[in-house]
Amino acid sequence: MSGKMNGVRACVFDAYGTLFNVHAPVASMAGRIGPQADQVSRLWRTKQLEYTWLRSLMQAHAPFWQVTGEALDYSLAAHGIEDKGLRDELMQLYLHLEAYPDAVACLKALKAAGFTTGILSNGSPDMLSAAVRSAGLEAHLDHVLSIEDVGIYKPDPRVYQLAVDRTGVGDASEICFVSANTWDAQAAKSFGFQVARINRFGLPDDNIPGRPDMLLDSLEQLPAAVS
Ligand code: LAC
Repeated sequence: MSGKMNGVRACVFDAYGTLFNVHAPVASMAGRIGPQADQVSRLWRTKQLEYTWLRSLMQAHAPFWQVTGEALDYSLAAHGIEDKGLRDELMQLYLHLEAYPDAVACLKALKAAGFTTGILSNGSPDMLSAAVRSAGLEAHLDHVLSIEDVGIYKPDPRVYQLAVDRTGVGDASEICFVSANTWDAQAAKSFGFQVARINRFGLPDDNIPGRPDMLLDSLEQLPAAVS
């Protein structure tokens, strides 16, 4: 899908999976984990997201740092791995995730073109600031917004409303929301943003309401698409 968006004033990014590579921690420990490493990482991510949705429905919110740890514990147990040291190292690596290689150039170009930039993420404020700092994204972001300010996870519409309120744009349609997570991109479109999905994982859209306006191969294509 190609084309251009009109009237965009701010670009707001999902964090995990979109700007930050959530599979980097396990990949860097793959030698220690062995041939199950990819599966361990994938189940970790799947359970992390499931737990956010479940906790929101159960009205039993807990911060993303806790949820991330509980999801890792599940994945390690499901793969028969009992190694407290490994668990702690993976969590430390998660605090200092690397950015995908296309992230910095994209944010720099957007700032140079005069767009407001931000993150809107499930991440706890301390997790987000650690990741933003270690990936060197601080200078290129006007806003780092955490769902902790509304106390419920994506895709609750109150989360997306936070981006409208905090960026100060007049209307949701003036925000281009950018996510590599199908369900997040689609819920954001349903909410009223213009949406670019970054197809990092080669997946089709989910069968839920909302279709992204654009499907891009890389964040490199975003600045031209919104200008
Ligand atoms: C986030 C998750 C959805 O950053 O990746 O909000």
